[in-house]
Amino acid sequence: MGSFSHISVFTLSLFCCSFLIQAQQPYVGPKTTDCTNPDTSDSVLGYTCNGLNRSCQAYLVFRSQPSYNTVTSISNLLSSDPSQIAEINEVSVTTSFETNHLVIVPVNCSCSGDYYQVNTTYTVQSGDGYFLIANDTFQALSTCQAIQNQQPDIRSENLTIGSRITVPLRCACPTRNQIDVGINYLVSYPIAQGDSVSGISEMFGADTERTFEANQLNDSNIVFFTTLLVPLKDPPSNIAVPSPPPPPPPPSPNSPPSGSSNKTWIYILVGVLGGGALILVVCTVIFCVFFRKSKKKPDLIMTSVSSKAAEKPLKKKLEDESQDFLDSMSHIAQSLNLKVYKFEELQLATDNFSPSCQIKGSVYRGVIQGDFAAIKKVNGDVSKEIELLNKVNHSNLIRLSGLCFHDGHWYLVYEYAANGALSDWIFHNNNSGKYLSWKQRIQIALDVATGLNYLHCFSNPPHVHKDLKSSNVLLDVDFRAKISNFALSRSTEGREGQFALTRHIVGTKGYMAPEYLENGLVSTKLDVYGFGVLLLEVITGKEAAAFCGEEYMNLSDILSNVLHEKDGQEGLKQLIDPSMLENYPSELAIVVVTLINSCLKKNPTARPDMDEIVKSLSRMLTASSTWDSSSNMSGSQTSTGNY
Ligand SMILES: *[C@@H]1O[C@H](CO)[C@@H](O)[C@H](O)[C@H]1NC(C)=O
Ligand SMILES: *[C@@H]1O[C@H](CO)[C@@H](O)[C@H](O)[C@H]1NC(C)=O
Ligand SMILES: *[C@@H]1O[C@H](CO)[C@@H](O)[C@H](O)[C@H]1NC(C)=O
Ligand SMILES: *[C@@H]1O[C@H](CO)[C@@H](O)[C@H](O)[C@H]1NC(C)=O
Ligand SMILES: *[C@@H]1O[C@H](CO)[C@@H](O)[C@H](O)[C@H]1NC(C)=O
Ligand SMILES: *[C@@H]1O[C@H](CO)[C@@H](O)[C@H](O)[C@H]1NC(C)=O
Repeated sequence: MGSFSHISVFTLSLFCCSFLIQAQQPYVGPKTTDCTNPDTSDSVLGYTCNGLNRSCQAYLVFRSQPSYNTVTSISNLLSSDPSQIAEINEVSVTTSFETNHLVIVPVNCSCSGDYYQVNTTYTVQSGDGYFLIANDTFQALSTCQAIQNQQPDIRSENLTIGSRITVPLRCACPTRNQIDVGINYLVSYPIAQGDSVSGISEMFGADTERTFEANQLNDSNIVFFTTLLVPLKDPPSNIAVPSPPPPPPPPSPNSPPSGSSNKTWIYILVGVLGGGALILVVCTVIFCVFFRKSKKKPDLIMTSVSSKAAEKPLKKKLEDESQDFLDSMSHIAQSLNLKVYKFEELQLATDNFSPSCQIKGSVYRGVIQGDFAAIKKVNGDVSKEIELLNKVNHSNLIRLSGLCFHDGHWYLVYEYAANGALSDWIFHNNNSGKYLSWKQRIQIALDVATGLNYLHCFSNPPHVHKDLKSSNVLLDVDFRAKISNFALSRSTEGREGQFALTRHIVGTKGYMAPEYLENGLVSTKLDVYGFGVLLLEVITGKEAAAFCGEEYMNLSDILSNVLHEKDGQEGLKQLIDPSMLENYPSELAIVVVTLINSCLKKNPTARPDMDEIVKSLSRMLTASSTWDSSSNMSGSQTSTGNY
């Protein structure tokens, strides 16, 4: 009897242990669409913490989509490190992916209570609910149940736009059982239409049997918009997307490049072009400049051509950024007119980002090799700005001279504008003694118009700045203007009539054209409107908001009223303080108000093009010069400020 119970306890415990060890993760299945179903027996809330370690390196796969198609935007969305994403996908940090490209996203996965997860924060947008966020934005890397579970007090239908919520992303760490068979990593893969367990396994070079086990699947019944765990021995590398089934054989060095990894591409290019491949070097370089590899250039190419099995230095620490890397990159970065700075250099330049060096917000003044520079710390997606500023070269657009990536933040290094933001100068109510003459104001307007005209007509592809305002115009030592802050600018390429719809309304209120506020229309005429508002501020010394009192619907109406006054002079007095107006040539001021009025037309096509504005302001500047000298001769004593 005794021995029997012993045996049964033994068997039971053996059973339990083996159950625990064997237990992998139950495949979530289609329950994720049923947001109100309280049944959490499958992994709807996340994969259970049954791994050997409570935290581990894990990977997510994300399909690039129009609003999340750059390394930085994807890293922001999924709280991953952009340089690690760039490294594992063998691209640069500024890369934009094609739509539906499978992007590997390295994450630190750890237990929160019973489930493994990566926390990310997400800003609620109009129309969002937990299902939409989980399924459409996060591509099933989270579930509505899990997001709800994370903020139990907020119901899906009561989400406020702009509020920030925690989204737990599905990840998992290998169990003892998996580690015993050599599995070290689990990839959370969002299943797409047409995917099969074997097809997915092959994409990653994983063992199909192990994939079945990892997901406790008995059959191949998987549904799309759910996640599948793919167990891997080595970190995933560039995913070989199968052409429509059956999936292609594993790439060999002689196979054609389509469907094979970047490595094969480079291998072939090296082979074909040999030593004289200047283009290749440039490409490799573009691709590596922002690339966190602590190796010299030749090694980089070697790494690129080595086989998939080659060990990838994944868990490299940020501090590993060695002098070698910077040295080899710096001369190449010069050819892109960009310098890659070490964080220590920027610390030194800004006295460790001390408040005394702060210009405004996250912008610091630094001294780099004896020259002043402006250093901006950025959290978000900088790829668009870098891409644009690296392409344009115009004295009225602020020049980006270098960059640095440190501890999850970008630092952009710009030319320094000694006189700071235009907004510090034009608003008349300041007591700083800062005062600009009429001619300086017109010169600044002409500079801004010239810069915008370049952006609209001569940059390739054409761009819209989208966030023109007086604080984004900087003045150099000679009070010549430079447009800055291209964070929101976008290209108008390939869009019929240059009009495009955008879903997210961004920019600065008061400067935004009505068609953009109402319908999200983006065109160069958006900047023309913003320019009109800016010019109004420049000549009146008042913020645009000051004009939009309760009694007026829009700026255009106000200006029309002004211009309808008999000879306009009386109207001008409503607009511009008499103390300022007496230093202005009033006939010219009327012409400027007329120009502003045309820029603020409600109908975008009725607004002038930037090149017309440039011409008109050039004439104005010439006329102002003659006025300036004649008024000086007559001995004007009245202007405020410094003489
Ligand atoms: C688990 O943790 C140990 C010690 O911290 C570490 O050596 C090992 O690599 C980890 N295993 C995995 C799979 O992360
Ligand atoms: C993950 O953890 C490693 C080591 O702790 C750290 O260097 C890395 O920055 C972390 N990644 C993210 C995205 O937090
Ligand atoms: C995720 O956030 C929750 C709170 O929202 C916290 O309890 C949990 O520890 C976090 N998990 C990780 C892995 O950071
Ligand atoms: C989930 O999102 C995809 C696009 O990401 C969409 O095609 C699909 O219809 C969504 N599923 C449901 C049930 O809405
Ligand atoms: C949603 O918000 C409204 C108003 O704030 C409140 O009356 C309602 O009870 C909320 N619904 C839920 C489900 O919390
Ligand atoms: C696999 O089969 C076992 C036993 O038949 C069952 O308990 C389990 O739910 C099945 N798994 C799935 C994902 O269908």
